[in-house]
Amino acid sequence: MSTPLSPLNPPRRLLFGPGPTMVDPRVYQAMTKTVVSHLDPYFFEVVEDCRRLLRVAFGTANEFTLAMSGTGSAGMQTAVANFVEPGSTFVVLAAGFFADRMSEMGRRQGANVIRIEKPWGEAFDQNEVAAKIRELKPNVVGFVQAETSTGVFQNSEILCAAAHEVGALTMSDCVTSLGAMPVELDKQGIDIGYSCTQKGMSCPPGLAPVTVSPRAMEWLKARKTTPADWYLDLKLLADYYEGAHRYHHTAPISLFYALREGLSVINDEGIENRWLRHKLSHEMFVAGVEAMGLRMHVKAGNRIWNLNTPVIPEGVDDLKVRKRLLAATDIEISGGFGPLAGKVFRVGIMGPLATEDNTLLLLKGMQDALAGEGFAVKGDAVAAAQAAVTWPVAQLV
Ligand SMILES: Cc1ncc(COP(=O)(O)O)c(C=O)c1O
Repeated sequence: MSTPLSPLNPPRRLLFGPGPTMVDPRVYQAMTKTVVSHLDPYFFEVVEDCRRLLRVAFGTANEFTLAMSGTGSAGMQTAVANFVEPGSTFVVLAAGFFADRMSEMGRRQGANVIRIEKPWGEAFDQNEVAAKIRELKPNVVGFVQAETSTGVFQNSEILCAAAHEVGALTMSDCVTSLGAMPVELDKQGIDIGYSCTQKGMSCPPGLAPVTVSPRAMEWLKARKTTPADWYLDLKLLADYYEGAHRYHHTAPISLFYALREGLSVINDEGIENRWLRHKLSHEMFVAGVEAMGLRMHVKAGNRIWNLNTPVIPEGVDDLKVRKRLLAATDIEISGGFGPLAGKVFRVGIMGPLATEDNTLLLLKGMQDALAGEGFAVKGDAVAAAQAAVTWPVAQLV
């Protein structure tokens, strides 16, 4: 027998990165509940609760809403494998790491991928994209609503309307927006949306919520070819999660308990209150970093509330700042990657961390770490953040 392992003892971290983010304490509790079988009627009750509350978070009336086993990338793969047929034309709005991943998945499905590109950090002009869509007449248009690699939020009502005009389906990555910002799937005209559980939902990673419009379901029912990915085949999964409850795979029961509790936390708070909490934290954060003398990489109006990308000042070492911050405060933030490596911090303020006190704690920590690495801090971040935003305590949990 080898030496017994010591008890698990993960380090204390305040996860202010892009994800995973802090898990809600109620979610941890839910995960300790007894596992039932994946065919137990109780499990399907849990699934139904998740489906009902996911519709609220997505802002959709879509009947076909469920959680795939797997992380956010499994959601992306589900969308692409089911709705992007080999030989079809797949237009991808590419201005970040996760849009690149979507293009690559399309390429692997054998689609003719046409990328419309922008520099990382810019949002697409919807009218320009709409004109391109009318010209290209693709089968599917894919884009990332909240691009975690850049901090850009992409609105889509106009471009999705153009896609529908030419008979195309629309697909959006809502991995970072779900549970933290209004996704407004139906209003935005998105046919297929997917997400994850480890960001705005305050759960551990492991499930990928997916929702499909009636229009896209019609298309899928009529699809003649079989998706190459058996595991993510939505027609097979419909047979398991809906109607017949025929075995497909052994669903990760404890993760469904977690998701149900995460959604229940959101429901108790009220989704609008939750969005407001994220918006106010974001506004405080921006006021604070700008007071320090940093600037935001993304233009105001195009920013994700729960994922901020301040530009790293000239001459300051990204990694050293982050290490100093972690050592002094247990706060973890992230760096940029691809063309933004060493150029921006990626700072997530989500779920239980999106409060006035936590945002101020973060700002103080970042200010001290930057000063410690030789940056001449211009003004006090905490005072500026407090002056900029009045927190309506009474409205919020
Ligand atoms: C926008 C976006 N899409 C997709 C993913 C992939 O999700 P996962 O890492 O959970 O597979 C991420 C992960 O951070 C993301 O931020």
